[in-house]
Order: sequence, then structure tokens, then C-alpha cells
Amino acid sequence: MAQHTWIHEIDRHLGDEVTLRGWVFHLRAMKKLAFIVVRDGTGLCQAVVSKADVDEAIFELASGLTQESTIEVTGKVEADKRAPGGFEMQVTNLAVLSEARDYPISPKEHGTSFLMDHRHLWLRSKKQHALLQLRDTVKTAINDFFHGEGFTQVDAPIFTPNACEGTTNLFETEYFGSPAYLTQSGQLYMEAAAAAVGKAYCFGPTFRAEKSKTRRHLTEFWMIEPEVAFAHLDDAMSLAERFLVYVVGRAVEAHRDMLQDILERDVSKLEAVQAPFPRLQYDDAVTVLNEKGHPFEWGGDFGSPDETLLAEQYDRPFIVHRFPAAIKAFYMERDPNDARLSMSMDVLAPEGYGEIIGGGERATDLEYLERQIAEHNLPKAAFEWYLDLRRYGTFPHAGFGLGLERLITYISGNHHVRETIPFPRQIHRLSP
Ligand code: 4AD
Ligand code: MG
Repeated sequence: MAQHTWIHEIDRHLGDEVTLRGWVFHLRAMKKLAFIVVRDGTGLCQAVVSKADVDEAIFELASGLTQESTIEVTGKVEADKRAPGGFEMQVTNLAVLSEARDYPISPKEHGTSFLMDHRHLWLRSKKQHALLQLRDTVKTAINDFFHGEGFTQVDAPIFTPNACEGTTNLFETEYFGSPAYLTQSGQLYMEAAAAAVGKAYCFGPTFRAEKSKTRRHLTEFWMIEPEVAFAHLDDAMSLAERFLVYVVGRAVEAHRDMLQDILERDVSKLEAVQAPFPRLQYDDAVTVLNEKGHPFEWGGDFGSPDETLLAEQYDRPFIVHRFPAAIKAFYMERDPNDARLSMSMDVLAPEGYGEIIGGGERATDLEYLERQIAEHNLPKAAFEWYLDLRRYGTFPHAGFGLGLERLITYISGNHHVRETIPFPRQIHRLSP
């Protein structure tokens, strides 16, 4: 048997006889010719079976192939500009390793809930394959960015004794007879880590019992959370800006064709993601909304229609900072110039994608935090370890959290966040 090769390396074998192993992506069978598009996960390759060149039995086998059957196909590699991937194979031998009968996903249109129910198979399709590649590239770029800036990746736990982002959307579980919560954010742990390594980040799954069924919410999503010692709000904003410019740039560099051809993304919109990002105070954002004839009362949090309206004036992500302290988490530093405000920021993506980053500067004062914990009705005992960070060498620090799926939704131009994670978890979806 000829040497097995992966399709993404087939260009190294021009003129050779090789064997591909994969699945039948598409078949066009005619009287004397059969065209099999083989998919092996690394690419697509057209295998041409010519009745004149192979045994009768092989031609019969080829003509009867069914979608997603597993096959092994051997033949000579030839360059062909018209073929998907630029190469095709003149088949000399073919074996069916496993026949797939009645593959449920046909090229015809299916509804989203049907496709989501078949997510384990749907991942094989072109667009979902592209999203898996994009996610992988974005994750790699994120790690490269932070390592390039001298950060240390520090893992945060998933079982936690306390809330970080309010108690309304906590997933509670039982931990040997006591309650525990699935983490909403690794931030508090990154604050501890920042005192250990200076610049820390975590990158892992986080959980929110979101009852909302919006296109932006998952119950399990991945968050990247940098935390920097001796940094202030402005430093966190600049870091977020450098970070997004870098990651979006890497995605475009690696996947320009895929973004355009398969995801149908207007890449010029991504090329506009350059520093500086516009920055506006929450107060000014409220004024902008009211001036646009959209009544919005100072003190409220932005909903997605508000975010979309604000974004209208920008062609790139922008930053809203200094939200009212009352709508932000307990740990936020207050604005020294206006005690009603917090040293917080959100980064919003344009085109209606909304908030992708939330963060800011953390309160450093022990007594202030003790009062905040009481006012937010949080159990003090569970936060003693966190308060220790203010007892033993407290330090200014700032950071943020980026929702990976929201970023990929924006980069890919997808309408909904659910296709950007391999197996989404939403209020009504825990399967497959
Ligand atoms: O704004 P959030 O709640 O901020 C925090 O959790 C901070 N502790 C982060 C930090 O400062 N270290 O969440 C941060 C980001 C949001 O901007 C959004 O991108 C994403 O996490 N996010 C979600 N993504 C998908 N589904 C959800 N339910 C999400 N909730 C938040
Ligand atoms: Mg937020």
C-alpha cells in the first residue's frame, strides 16, 4: 500500500502514489467517472475514479459511496487548479472502512435546533470546521500576546467558595456536604497571582447561570483574564487595546481567505481594528444616547440596543469607562474625583456585537472592601483570603476579562455566540 498522507501535506507528494484516509464529503458519480471529495479534517481532496483505469468492483464501490462513510483511497497526486485545494488524485484503489447510512445532515437547509442537536456531526461541515480553526488560532494568538508582554499564565480554580460577579447567576453544586460554586471569573485569584508574578493571566472556562436566551449569552464560556500589579484604569484600557489589535490582526493574517470565502466576513471591518480605540466616559455615553433621541437614565446599565446605538459612530472597538459604582461589582476602585463612579471599563465591539471586555482597577483599601462586601450581602468568611491581599502588601492593580466566544463571534461575523464554541451550553442546551 502507498504511504498515508494528510491532505494538508499533499502538495509534498505531487506525482507520487499516496493513500488518503477520510470521509466522503461529496460524491458525483457518472457513467465512466466518479468524483469523490474526500475530507480528512486537514483539507478536502477530489479523488477521480475512472472506469477505464480501475477494476469493475472498485468503480462500483465508488459509485455507491454514501456521505460520511469512512474510506481509504489510493492514487496518484496531480495538480489541478479547479479542484478544491488545488490538487486531485487519480484513483488506483479504494476501500470502504465503514459505511455511513443515512447521514442526518444533508446539503439541504436544516433548522438551527436540528443542527444543534446534531452538533457532534455538524462540526464536520465547512463553516463549523472554519470556526474551529479560527478558535484555535485566536487562542494561540492570545497566549502569544501575553507571553510577549511578559505575563505568566496562572490557572484559576473552577470550584470556588465565593461569588465574584454577584450572586444572581451562580451555579451552585455540592462539595462533600458543603455548597460550592462553579467559577464566574478567575479574577480574584489573578489578583493573588499578580502579587506573586507581577503580570498574570488565566484562560479557562467560566460559568454563569444566565436565564437570558440572547445571542450573546452562554452558561459556560471561556474567559481570558489578565491582572497587572501597579497598573491603573488607563493601563488596563491600553492593554485591552494592544491585545485586541494583536489578536484580530493575527486572525486576519492566518485566515483571510477562510474569513472571506467560508465565513463571508467583510475583512475590511477587521482591518479597521487599530489603535487608538475611542474612549468615552459613561456620563458622555448617556448624553450621546439621549442626543440620539433614545431616552436613557443615568445610573442604568447598557442593554444591547443601547450598545448598538453607541457603536453606530465607530468603525472599531471602543471603550466606555467610569460606570456608576452601584451597577458594578464589589471590588471596583472608586473614582477619586467622583465617589459615585467606579474605575471600571467595558470594551464594546462595533456592528452590534456589544460588550466583549469588562474590567477596571481594583479597590486596594481593606476597610472599604469590608464595607463593600457587607453592602453586597456577601459572606465575609468566604472572602477572608481575598482580604488578606489588602492586609499583606496591598498594591494598586487592574485587569479585565475578555469573553472568548464573544470575540470570535465578532471576528467571524456570526450572528450568534453558540457556533463559536464546540459544544455550547445554554439555558435549554446541555446536549450533546
Ligand atoms: O464583564 P464580566 O462579568 O467581568 C468579569 O467577570 C470580571 N471579573 C473580569 C475581570 O475583570 N477579570 O465578564 C467579562 C466578559 C464580558 O465582557 C463578556 O465578553 C464575557 O466575559 N461574558 C460572557 N460571554 C458569554 N456568555 C456569558 N454569559 C458571558 N458573561 C460574560
Ligand atoms: Mg460586564
